[in-house]
Amino acid sequence: MEEPQTRAVREILPARETIEGAGVHLRRAFGHLQVPKLDPFLLLDDFRSENPAEFVAGFPWHPHRGIETVTYMLDGRVDHEDSLGNAGVIGPGDVQWMTAGGGIIHQEMPKAVESRMGGFQLWVNLPASQKMMDPRYQEVQNARIPEVEVSKGIRARVVSGEAGGVRGPVRDIVVDPEFLDLRLEPGAVLEHPVKPGHRAFAYLVGGEGTFEEEGERIDSEHLVLFGDGSRVRVQAGSRPLRFLLISGRPLGEPVAWWGPIVMNTRKELEVAVDEYHNGTFLRRGKSPA
Ligand code: CO
Repeated sequence: MEEPQTRAVREILPARETIEGAGVHLRRAFGHLQVPKLDPFLLLDDFRSENPAEFVAGFPWHPHRGIETVTYMLDGRVDHEDSLGNAGVIGPGDVQWMTAGGGIIHQEMPKAVESRMGGFQLWVNLPASQKMMDPRYQEVQNARIPEVEVSKGIRARVVSGEAGGVRGPVRDIVVDPEFLDLRLEPGAVLEHPVKPGHRAFAYLVGGEGTFEEEGERIDSEHLVLFGDGSRVRVQAGSRPLRFLLISGRPLGEPVAWWGPIVMNTRKELEVAVDEYHNGTFLRRGKSPA
């Protein structure tokens, strides 16, 4: 057996304030400026807020093509509706893994519960061969996401991939992702395997810790991009640490990006935008009135 290679910290990115949708204030950990650094991941937004004025305008009807959007809620809820006729609520602890594929039009409207609202949205790219796949959802409620004690002082919610011998409910995703929500008590050390060659990053939800041996201390609302290797090593500081640990297989393909549509070429973007304007965008379902 080969010795596990602990991944080094390649880069630390602070989340930056931005405005999206119809005027939602949020913090973006990465986005189009970082392409292709986080391939196959395109964007991560942290939309936690205790001020309704920052989010009530929401994300009214908009299209997606060529990507998957993953919404993971901590507090409050997002009411959603789409062109396939789905309508529902993503509540605290729930995840919605939406594969837009060839096209979906939807709206996502955040609502506070007890004055708190928030969560994360991750965009996952699709390879050229799957960009026009049929749209689909994996919607998993809080109670169906396993929470396990990985070792003493370390708990994981397993959305996708595996931790503590338990597999998460989101499966059969093209880039073979792992998506974990980890909590470490002060001083606890996590050593977790990550497939060699897969891109891996951590986003700090709260607390602080180090993300490599003798590493510098990193605070909440920062993203840690790992170099390659077969595992990560994380140690919580003097406060409890919570972070998302996300990895997936890089695509290594050209990225052409226009707002909520991400394709491989400029021509494909032009086609998508033309289709959206002339009403032929959807391969399935129907346009909302
Ligand atoms: Co959307």
